Amino acid sequence: MARTTLTRFLIEQQRKADVLPGELRLLIETVARACKTISHSVGKGALGEVLGSLDSENVQGEVQKKLDVIANELLLDANEWGGHLAAMASEEMETIYPIPNRYPKGEYLLLFDPIDGSSNIDVDLSVGTIFSVLRAPEACAGRDVTEEDFLQGGRSQVAAGYAIYGPQSILVLSIGTGVYEFTLDREVGSWIMTDADMKMPQGKCEFAINMSNRRQWSPGIARYVDERVLGAAGPCGKDYNMRWTASMVADVHRILKRGGIFMYPYDDRTPGKAKLRLMYEANPMSYLIEQAGGAATDGFIPILDAEPTALHQRIGVVLGDKAEVEIVTAYGREAEVAA
Ligand code: AHG
Ligand code: MN
Ligand code: MN
Repeated sequence: MARTTLTRFLIEQQRKADVLPGELRLLIETVARACKTISHSVGKGALGEVLGSLDSENVQGEVQKKLDVIANELLLDANEWGGHLAAMASEEMETIYPIPNRYPKGEYLLLFDPIDGSSNIDVDLSVGTIFSVLRAPEACAGRDVTEEDFLQGGRSQVAAGYAIYGPQSILVLSIGTGVYEFTLDREVGSWIMTDADMKMPQGKCEFAINMSNRRQWSPGIARYVDERVLGAAGPCGKDYNMRWTASMVADVHRILKRGGIFMYPYDDRTPGKAKLRLMYEANPMSYLIEQAGGAATDGFIPILDAEPTALHQRIGVVLGDKAEVEIVTAYGREAEVAA
């Protein structure tokens, strides 16, 4: 049976008229190539001297792992000269990275979390790369790109995806026409399509949340989780299972494949107390989840409708099973009214 490579899939999408402009196709191919290189680095582990932390901190005050920096450099190096981008932004860089003047510039903006789930690197659990593509606003033609040009809502994304470096390396991608999965054939070096037009299963009883934060949860989140922990004896009338990988890519990938809900909520109504980043994590993942038939809110409104005000902004995340996300969001609103 002929295997569909990522390249072939993208060319087919491009042929279908307006679905995929040529520049965007080449940009996605470049990102996928960089992810392949990151996959090799991650796979070498201690043998490649890529494990452990550096003395540096990123802009969010988090200690940087060696691989955070290596993957960031790989993504910058791979994408800066292709001519498809006006600028890039990364969780690991304080401000944006405009394409240097010595290279041709294009009309897209690329945002990424180079290594998601950093705390898992040194213990050989799954990590990944998350990316999001926006169109540079027309207004920035002929002038330098600014941070404000990146502050576009999630519905403006023209592509989003992630690579997961686990037992297999997998790339999950959407260009707004469904969600597609490609597995890295390590011997051949190609991303091969292994799942097409993915729809996440609904009605599955599995939730993902870091329970150690319970004391800081808002009443709506606490109510939702407490009811599920009671299982068949409680108001849900059925048992729920819990999983927490501490790599958003791994948790979201599981949800895409076998259903359930993922939550990293606001600790209270103060947006500053959320952990996950809107532009590098929440927006691309919400785009994928909505494309796969799920839902994503910050606990109150759809994440894709949130208006970004800062590049490194954080936001509450509740995503996955549509009905479950609706329950969490309704509980949050009810608690808000009661307060
Ligand atoms: P990153 O490694 O890019 O900083 O992201 C880690 C994120 C996310 O992947 C995961 O869901 C969450 O942090 C885990 O947080 P806890 O360690 O608080 O559970
Ligand atoms: Mn992350
Ligand atoms: Mn990261």
